[in-house]
Amino acid sequence: MAWVSIGEIDQLSQLPVQCFRHADREYVLIYHDSRFYMLDSACPHKAAALCDGDLRKGAIECPWHKARFDIQTGRGLNPLAGGGVSTYSLRQEGDQLLAELT
Ligand code: FES
Repeated sequence: MAWVSIGEIDQLSQLPVQCFRHADREYVLIYHDSRFYMLDSACPHKAAALCDGDLRKGAIECPWHKARFDIQTGRGLNPLAGGGVSTYSLRQEGDQLLAELT
């Protein structure tokens, strides 16, 4: 695990859901109620990109078959979501947002 700069907080807070790629892996960065969350982007059902999905009521919804995941814990909220997805720690350093990624 290592802390990786995701970008400037001011810019990142402009979009509720966005993709972030690092070391051949894709993550979904979510900005909701003035807080950031980061989860693995690959849906455990058929590997659609959750970062192309929609944020609804505190959950990220897969764009393909609507599996839903809690943005704070990554826990699956319906059967298609299986065991859910991993979440990653975030912290602020100056004007930058950093994530602890594998
Ligand atoms: S690929 Fe995500 S619900 Fe099917």
